[in-house]
Amino acid sequence: MNKLIILILSVLLIVLSVNSNETRWDSSSGSSDTTPGDFDYYLFVQQWIYSYCSESKCIENKEREAFTIHGLWPNDRNNSYPAFCTGPSFDLGEISDLEDQLNVDWISLTEDNDLFWTSEYKKHGTCAVVAGSPISNEHDYFVAGLKLYTQHNLTSALISENIYPSDQDTYESDSISSAINSQFGGQPVMQCDNNKLSTIALCIDKKTLSIMDCPEVDGFDTCSGKVSIPSSSNRL
Ligand SMILES: *[C@@H]1O[C@H](CO)[C@@H](O)[C@H](O)[C@H]1NC(C)=O
Ligand SMILES: *[C@@H]1O[C@H](CO)[C@@H](O)[C@H](O)[C@H]1NC(C)=O
Ligand SMILES: *[C@@H]1O[C@H](CO)[C@@H](O)[C@H](O)[C@H]1NC(C)=O
Repeated sequence: MNKLIILILSVLLIVLSVNSNETRWDSSSGSSDTTPGDFDYYLFVQQWIYSYCSESKCIENKEREAFTIHGLWPNDRNNSYPAFCTGPSFDLGEISDLEDQLNVDWISLTEDNDLFWTSEYKKHGTCAVVAGSPISNEHDYFVAGLKLYTQHNLTSALISENIYPSDQDTYESDSISSAINSQFGGQPVMQCDNNKLSTIALCIDKKTLSIMDCPEVDGFDTCSGKVSIPSSSNRL
């Protein structure tokens, strides 16, 4: 009997410790804070499709040379974050006027777009929505993401600083973040996989929705040395 309890507790402990290292790419992980508005700033996360798709199995006809929106994530300076907050659940009808743009700029590369919007909203959007704040409902949340995207065209920012997507050329990862900083006035954080730039996240003030310098963000300092921004598919 005691042995059984110890076994169950050990298994539980292992499961918990494995879960605690999950990144939020997995829409099922989260924290215990479920209070909307209880966070310090937003992480606005964009992914470079060709790098993402060299690590994950993507839907072929969705691949193109671009950054697209992954999400707008409430985050804390202490690197915890609220998730799966209380409030109304996702309603596709609320954002029907945005669908055309979402289907270009905020796409899932691995599943139906509306499933992606549902999971991003459920996990992160619900924690952003606060009456009287710049994001007071689901529609505001998706508008905010689309607006930040058009205001911060990473591809053109990099090109302005002579950094081009290429299968041959590589760039110092510091020069990529400096380029973004000098174009937009905020230090970003980045992720790389196998020396390919896969994600750039901008930090966004929660009250003004304008860019700010990123603090240190867990899981977002995985680029170092020379990295590439592939210009063609490296499909799995
Ligand atoms: C989780 O991360 C911590 C610190 O980064 C590490 O010490 C621990 O071994 C990791 N646990 C698992 C299960 O990977
Ligand atoms: C982290 O910061 C948030 C927001 O400022 C706060 O609500 C939360 O309690 C903090 N968590 C820890 C573990 O310190
Ligand atoms: C971003 O800039 C690139 C390069 O100038 C351009 O091809 C692309 O259409 C722009 N994207 C948006 C959403 O404006």
